[in-house]
Amino acid sequence: MQRLSICIAEDSNVVRAAIQSLLTKSGYFDVVGAVPDGRAALNSCRETHPQLVLLDVSMPEMDGIEAARQISALSPDSVIIMLSSQDDMEVIRDALKAGARDFIRKPIHGPDLIQKILTIYAREGSRRSSTSESLRRKILAFTSSKTGAGTTTIAINSAVALARKLRKKVLVMDLDVLYADASHCLGRKQQPSMAELLLSPDPQRLENIRKFIMETTSGVYLLPGPSTPTPDLIRYSGIEAVIRSVEADYDFVIIDFPHMIDDFWVRILEATDQIFLVVGSDVPSIRSTKVYLENLKKTKIPTRRVKIVYNHVTTDGNVDRKDVQDFINMPVYSEISCDRESVTKAYLSRTPFLLKELTQISRDVETLVEKVFLGRDSI
Ligand SMILES: Nc1ncnc2c1ncn2[C@@H]1O[C@H](COP(=O)(O)OP(=O)(O)O)[C@@H](O)[C@H]1O
Ligand SMILES: [Mg+2]
Repeated sequence: MQRLSICIAEDSNVVRAAIQSLLTKSGYFDVVGAVPDGRAALNSCRETHPQLVLLDVSMPEMDGIEAARQISALSPDSVIIMLSSQDDMEVIRDALKAGARDFIRKPIHGPDLIQKILTIYAREGSRRSSTSESLRRKILAFTSSKTGAGTTTIAINSAVALARKLRKKVLVMDLDVLYADASHCLGRKQQPSMAELLLSPDPQRLENIRKFIMETTSGVYLLPGPSTPTPDLIRYSGIEAVIRSVEADYDFVIIDFPHMIDDFWVRILEATDQIFLVVGSDVPSIRSTKVYLENLKKTKIPTRRVKIVYNHVTTDGNVDRKDVQDFINMPVYSEISCDRESVTKAYLSRTPFLLKELTQISRDVETLVEKVFLGRDSI
């Protein structure tokens, strides 16, 4: 059995060491953090995203309840269990409201502690899998109503943010059958691409697909798009099955999607979990987004799956977030600043800007990624 990663936050050195040794010796747990206060627990969870967090209620620096609140926002999949010596209903209620899943009262006999943690984790696991359909965030399409909105730029940098910051295994699949340039942006020379894969025997077999995927220097994996426009090849060769096969190998599959919304591409969009619709700040982009959304409403894709990313491709004009929302009649989920210098330098040097010095545009992409992937949808 794979050990469950756990962080223990408890201010008494003696109790903390005893729990750590007990859990480690049990063989069920891998203690990835053993810290004396809430703030240190938060920092540890930011790094390790453990499966379990054991939090003492009263601790210096930041108490367990505040730590539970912040950890559940930062790492929503971590199951937080409070440890308390107080028999206080008020405290228990606050802790559960803050995001804790259960409570264990101290003192507790060693074997009981282990049993209780395992039971809570198993219960939370089955609850998670029963809601996983609505929370699936694995196949992410980045698209826009017209070329030039910044789709590739944002897709690539989001992939890098996921791989670098959240240490996820991410595949970028360039499905832009007309203007495939993810490969350029990730610093790869042109190489056998999706086109050659689809022309090879048995293109949907995972072992075959793997031969066409390579790791890039930014840590993300890439299945390059065709070097010359080949819309028909993609259309008639079972690309959906390729997506389904490959998803098993990755935490996330980011698709750089073409700017088309005919029946074929709608079917592919239906197979994705979230759709980031990038809107450029020029008037044609905003106008065509409205048309795009009207067409999307006629499909089976639920609107809640679509997130609007307002990309300030230019500083000209004065269309602000509110104007865009009013015009397309949908809330803007995230905004990306205009930064021609960083974006152009990144394109020319074939290195995503997220790997260069920290600028506002990098922070904007990181915020987008954190908001989606750490469950901070409400901020
Ligand atoms: N936030 C931004 N600020 C400045 N320029 C941008 C920004 N986003 C994209 N661009 C520029 O806009 C152009 C189109 O971007 P790209 O990502 O290729 O769009 P798409 O994939 O939608 O066609 C590129 O020249 C890119 O450098
Ligand atoms: Mg593009």
